[in-house]
Amino acid sequence: MNAFTRTIVITGLLLLCCLLTEQVPINGSSLLSFEDEWNYKVPTNEVPLLNESQRNLLLPFYSFVNDLKVEGIGENATNSTRHFPTSRDAKLAGDIIRTKVPCNVCNLGVGLLYAEVKSGVSMEEIKAKFVSICVSFKIESFSVCSGIFDTYGPEVVPVMELMTIGPPEVCKLIFGEICKSSDVASHEWTVDLPTIPKPNRTESTLPKVGMPVFKVLQISDTHYDLDYVEGAVTNCEEPLCCRTYSTLRSGEEPLPAGRWGSYEKCDAPKALLENMLQNIAFQHPDIDYILWTGDLPPHDIWNQTKQKNLKVIEDTIAMVVKAFPNTPIFPAVGNHESSPAGNFAPHWMTDPDHSVSWLYQKIGASWSGWLPKNTEETIHHGAFYSVLLRPGFRLISVNTNYCHSLSWWLLVNSTDPASELKWLIAELQKAESNSEKVHIIGHIAPGSSDCMKTWSSNFYNIVNRYEHTIKALFYGHSHADEFEVFYEATDFSSRATAVAYLAPSVTSFTNYNPAFRIYYVDGDHENTTREVLEHETWTFDLDTANLPGNEPNWFKSYSATDEFQLNSLRPNEWNNLIERMIQDDELFHRFYRNYYRHSPTAPPCDSKCKLQILCDLKSAKSHTKHQLCHELETAFQM
Ligand SMILES: *[C@@H]1O[C@H](CO)[C@@H](O)[C@H](O)[C@H]1NC(C)=O
Ligand SMILES: *[C@@H]1O[C@H](CO)[C@@H](O)[C@H](O)[C@H]1NC(C)=O
Ligand SMILES: *[C@@H]1O[C@H](CO)[C@@H](O)[C@H](O)[C@H]1NC(C)=O
Ligand SMILES: *[C@@H]1O[C@H](CO)[C@@H](O)[C@H](O)[C@H]1NC(C)=O
Ligand SMILES: *[C@@H]1O[C@H](CO)[C@@H](O)[C@H](O)[C@H]1NC(C)=O
Ligand SMILES: *[C@@H]1O[C@H](CO)[C@@H](O)[C@H](O)[C@H]1NC(C)=O
Ligand SMILES: *[C@@H]1O[C@H](CO)[C@@H](O)[C@H](O)[C@H]1NC(C)=O
Ligand SMILES: *[C@@H]1O[C@H](CO)[C@@H](O)[C@H](O)[C@H]1NC(C)=O
Ligand SMILES: [Zn+2]
Ligand SMILES: [Zn+2]
Repeated sequence: MNAFTRTIVITGLLLLCCLLTEQVPINGSSLLSFEDEWNYKVPTNEVPLLNESQRNLLLPFYSFVNDLKVEGIGENATNSTRHFPTSRDAKLAGDIIRTKVPCNVCNLGVGLLYAEVKSGVSMEEIKAKFVSICVSFKIESFSVCSGIFDTYGPEVVPVMELMTIGPPEVCKLIFGEICKSSDVASHEWTVDLPTIPKPNRTESTLPKVGMPVFKVLQISDTHYDLDYVEGAVTNCEEPLCCRTYSTLRSGEEPLPAGRWGSYEKCDAPKALLENMLQNIAFQHPDIDYILWTGDLPPHDIWNQTKQKNLKVIEDTIAMVVKAFPNTPIFPAVGNHESSPAGNFAPHWMTDPDHSVSWLYQKIGASWSGWLPKNTEETIHHGAFYSVLLRPGFRLISVNTNYCHSLSWWLLVNSTDPASELKWLIAELQKAESNSEKVHIIGHIAPGSSDCMKTWSSNFYNIVNRYEHTIKALFYGHSHADEFEVFYEATDFSSRATAVAYLAPSVTSFTNYNPAFRIYYVDGDHENTTREVLEHETWTFDLDTANLPGNEPNWFKSYSATDEFQLNSLRPNEWNNLIERMIQDDELFHRFYRNYYRHSPTAPPCDSKCKLQILCDLKSAKSHTKHQLCHELETAFQM
């Protein structure tokens, strides 16, 4: 996301600013009823969907053997088709999309425009003003600016009409802790946890080597671009390049898009996805089930339609089903699935022009091949579900777009959209009472700055309350290979309670080598922990693959325990890794190389960048970095 998201945030805000100024005073929300009639205590799937795990994979558990060398990567590539990122790009590494600039721009934009724009301005005039600001601030080109207005305007206008907060509150909700103003009281809310006391902690022992395991594939952020064309310009004006109509950045020589993708602002061509899926099916015929954590459409969000998104979703699902016709697949919904991207109006927005039910109906139908019929109700209601994988082992897929700060409708009311967290608590309480262990999957990780603070903080409390039940969490969205640790208290020196894995993206957008992830999960045996015991990451070098006649050479880049010398994949081991990386630069750079999958265009990472990345790893709660990373800042003397 990074620079691109920032662009969207700034343009979106300018859009908000323009519109806002002619909409004062806003009083529409009194017309809406936010009370949710939905009974979130729905019956749960109780029939295990998977067969017993049959494999006794003898993994190289905890052996610290470096079994693969990646030195040769990219050795044959040339520099001719490459734009090298600067250290400015490194500042965008990690989850630090929002810098001080956007908050100032946000507040300033409102101030400037407030005086200028009078009431009674037509949509055409607003568009003209928006486009002129967008172009003159050199945010995007004319056609992209006007495309953004056409795509987002019809959503943002009614949001403005219904909103009861002013510009500084809008900026605060979207930018979080970057904006120094105080929290927005009307958007602070708490979901109640049951009064049933948290069970006491018991230390379970790790399974012996040779016990049965599940082999689990995670694919994330495929971002299939149907308009990708080999040879199109990679250095284009628009936020997404390598497309038929990409326009060359002025004054530059055209750099052609490769057959398998590009490190520039380009998404995944069909050839890449087909090659990857064939490769996985061939090299890993023994996968037990697949986690698929969303973001199927490409990043051309200034020119998207519902129809185009549905086509991409359909085509990508068809490709995956073709490669894995008999493997159970458990999906989660990404922010890019909607159109305009990120638009997930809560259930109280019933107007079909704005409601997201067109998407939920579609994915309900597409997912029905993998999921039992009784998941339909929650999927149609909010694109989340809970299924039993094995007796005592449950998987819950959450829709994290209900915390997405670029989901404009949340500016009207962000209180537990679709009652999702209430439902999640009810599911977890049932699981705890039935002695089930749970894995959670979703798209946007809870610590991401893209996840609004209040939702994130409620989710954090839920994970801590049910830490004995929740054995792992799996996300995507950041495109980087990283993780987030949860802590018992608000400071990171307290006990680590859970870990969320943020899997690397399939798309190279931007500066990444494409990748997929494999986990080994404790299988069926007496006293199984259902913990993740090991994970490995597979990738290939895009530069080398793009040489004439070459194909992607997929290889195992690393296994977690070997690479980072972990005794297990328990939360405290991940926390220890962060602690060790503070001192050990070599270890950090090993982590950083994996973060970009050894991409030759990974931006250089100085100590400020290192601090930010380590802080991201500590932050499973969004917009509390300063609090969580205070000790890190001291260690780095920043
Ligand atoms: C806002 O709505 C309330 C309740 O409908 C009404 O009493 C009040 O006058 C309205 N305020 C404005 C500024 O329109
Ligand atoms: C938002 O909706 C909830 C009900 O879900 C309601 O209790 C709350 O008052 C609403 N907040 C605002 C700011 O309207
Ligand atoms: C479970 O085993 C049965 C019988 O071998 C087989 O038909 C079915 O496809 C298996 N299901 C899964 C999810 O592997
Ligand atoms: C680089 O090229 C040489 C000679 O063509 C070849 O043997 C080698 O495998 C190539 N290396 C990679 C990483 O593709
Ligand atoms: C590519 O450029 C970098 C930096 O300019 C240089 O260090 C590297 O040796 C070059 N690689 C090739 C294969 O020309
Ligand atoms: C939108 O996409 C179409 C092709 O699907 C293209 O012809 C057109 O130029 C694009 N518009 C913008 C503003 O990028
Ligand atoms: C949990 O531990 C506390 C103190 O150690 C003890 O008083 C309590 O009975 C325990 N609860 C359960 C359910 O074992
Ligand atoms: C399972 O746990 C119980 C209770 O801790 C213990 O008595 C038993 O020996 C364990 N079984 C195995 C196979 O480890
Ligand atoms: Zn993505
Ligand atoms: Zn995303």
